[in-house]
Amino acid sequence: MALTDEAATIALAQRLAAQLKPGMVIYLHGDLGAGKTTLVRGVLNALGYGGRVKSPTYTLVEPYNIAGMDLRHLDLYRLHDENEWESAGFREEFDGRNIFFIEWPERAQGLIPKADVEISFEILTRGRRTSMHANTNVGKQCLAQL
Ligand SMILES: Nc1ncnc2c1ncn2[C@@H]1O[C@H](COP(=O)(O)OP(=O)(O)OP(=O)(O)O)[C@@H](O)[C@H]1O
Ligand SMILES: [Mg+2]
Repeated sequence: MALTDEAATIALAQRLAAQLKPGMVIYLHGDLGAGKTTLVRGVLNALGYGGRVKSPTYTLVEPYNIAGMDLRHLDLYRLHDENEWESAGFREEFDGRNIFFIEWPERAQGLIPKADVEISFEILTRGRRTSMHANTNVGKQCLAQL
């Protein structure tokens, strides 16, 4: 799907926000600056979050409670090793209720649960291209209703 400008990424985020279910895990793939954080910001704003959406570049995680949902925005670009994963308490956070948006999931291979939905962004000369893939029934339902 073509995302010709930032507004298109935000429009996708708004549709996605309407399809979130407790416990969903969403991986966000794509190079630096591809639009992963932009998508999460769009989701949070669509749910009514009015504060600043910081990139979890250094904190690894930013938690949100909005619209009756607990969201966790992870950016694992700077995750070092399994010890850091465990000491941050991430394992317990995957409780089937928290909703996860995970940038750079590749950095935690073997540690994070599989994704319901994977969204990839490709940087084009103008805009972005996105592709989406579901790995579970919950994910398939989400994408079918997008
Ligand atoms: N569809 C689009 N077309 C053009 N520009 C876009 C589009 N979507 C987002 N952008 C812009 O691209 C940049 C994306 O930055 P963003 O922080 O979202 O990237 P990221 O994938 O989270 O990167 P990182 O891996 O460094 O966290 C922003 O400047 C945003 O305005
Ligand atoms: Mg980001």
